[in-house]
Amino acid sequence: MTFDQCCSAGPKPGHAGWYDQVFAWLLSRGIAKYDQVVADRKRVLFADLHGDVLEIGPGTGINLRYYPTGIRWIGIERNLAMHLYLKKQAESLHFDIDLRSGNAEQLEMQDGSMDAVVSTLVLCSVDSPARVLQEILRVLKPGGRFLFMEHVAAPLGTWLRQVQHWLRPVWKVVVNGCCPDRETLSVIESAGFGCINFQRFRVPLPIVGPHIVGVAIKDPVV
Ligand SMILES: C[S@@+](CC[C@H](N)C(=O)[O-])C[C@H]1O[C@@H](n2cnc3c(N)ncnc32)[C@H](O)[C@@H]1O
Repeated sequence: MTFDQCCSAGPKPGHAGWYDQVFAWLLSRGIAKYDQVVADRKRVLFADLHGDVLEIGPGTGINLRYYPTGIRWIGIERNLAMHLYLKKQAESLHFDIDLRSGNAEQLEMQDGSMDAVVSTLVLCSVDSPARVLQEILRVLKPGGRFLFMEHVAAPLGTWLRQVQHWLRPVWKVVVNGCCPDRETLSVIESAGFGCINFQRFRVPLPIVGPHIVGVAIKDPVV
């Protein structure tokens, strides 16, 4: 589906609640600065993408600029207020999108239909990361790749981990369901991928500085 087709059939941003609208506006204002810090890592991560690519929780579309030309992009974003920003971003980049509303915990794609799935800063805020990862595995082709860049829990026993734990209830409410102390790497490791390559790094942010970036590959033979 092209951008135009998607726009005419897509949901209206006015259907989003006030909280979703405020969060989308805040993300649209704040994400570019964060993105400058991780841009080089994203360029490397996205460089080899090809074919059918699903991005879960694409938000305002900050990642669209990193995709190689020629891919077929589908986005599943549950916050309708994000759609307006993402469509504008796609338009300015002349990037064809197939943007859908939906839930990453229950993907509408067929089994084994995607060459790659992308998630950046999403697994921290879904209700069940384990369920999302099972869905990602289901929709990936054998040998397909899951690309991730996520903030994660600080190491156990550190002062930062304690602060993340204390802040979690308030943080979750204020930052759209985000859990600062989520053990996302463990969830990816136990999901059932054939092989996982990842790196840890830190960004200069309070509370959510510890990050992981990597690729998890579905077994070529299932
Ligand atoms: C912190 S934002 C990150 C947006 C974007 N990936 C980025 O890197 O800027 C998290 C996004 O995930 C979306 N999201 C959270 N849970 C979701 C779910 N279960 N299904 C689809 N989207 C979800 C949110 O609406 C939000 O747009």
